[in-house]
Amino acid sequence: MIRLAESPRLVLPTVEVRTSYLVGEQVDCLLEGRPTEWLDAASADFAEFVAARRGVLPRWGVPSTLFWYVSGEYYLGTLVVRHELTADLAEAGGHIGYHVVPPWRGQGHATRMLTAGLAECRRLGLDRVLLTCETDNERSRRAILSNGGVADGRRRGEDRFWIELGSDAAA
Ligand SMILES: CC(C)(COP(=O)(O)OP(=O)(O)OC[C@H]1O[C@@H](n2cnc3c(N)ncnc32)[C@H](O)[C@@H]1OP(=O)(O)O)[C@@H](O)C(=O)NCCC(=O)NCCS
Repeated sequence: MIRLAESPRLVLPTVEVRTSYLVGEQVDCLLEGRPTEWLDAASADFAEFVAARRGVLPRWGVPSTLFWYVSGEYYLGTLVVRHELTADLAEAGGHIGYHVVPPWRGQGHATRMLTAGLAECRRLGLDRVLLTCETDNERSRRAILSNGGVADGRRRGEDRFWIELGSDAAA
């Protein structure tokens, strides 16, 4: 467990975590065998990269908001809220996507980041949200179940879960 001076919180993308973001995302890509070229633009002009990701943006065919999970200078992960579902997203993808970058995994951050993401969904007026995860993604499944996920079948190789957003969703 890495000690943090401040409790992490969800914020809009910010230039304050530049080094930590670039390092964390690079390590994530390398470990997963994904290309890292997209980080070149971020590295060259991080302010522009950040500005292009703030606010409500059309992604996946729906209005979406990107949040970063941040503690001081440290970037821990990303959570995206899709404000609506398309027919595709209703099958697989759902309202929320997230990842925690490797240095911060296994410390409960995804579970708490999702709790904070659910509070953002409630602020956006959603009363229940769909989450999906690959059938062998035990860590994500556990984070979803810890946040009240109720299983609703399997489509396209992903398990689906609904979470009801009661008035007590944590901030
Ligand atoms: C899935 C992911 C977000 C989990 O992040 P994390 O911060 O490590 O998750 P947490 O620490 O909150 O742990 C969640 C659960 O997994 C368990 N877990 C964590 N690390 C584990 C490991 N190495 N092996 C087995 N279980 C593990 C935790 O014990 C916890 O379960 P519990 O609450 O029942 O004890 C992260 O691995 C990730 O970003 N993966 C790649 C992207 C991804 O899969 N995103 C989700 C798409 S649906």
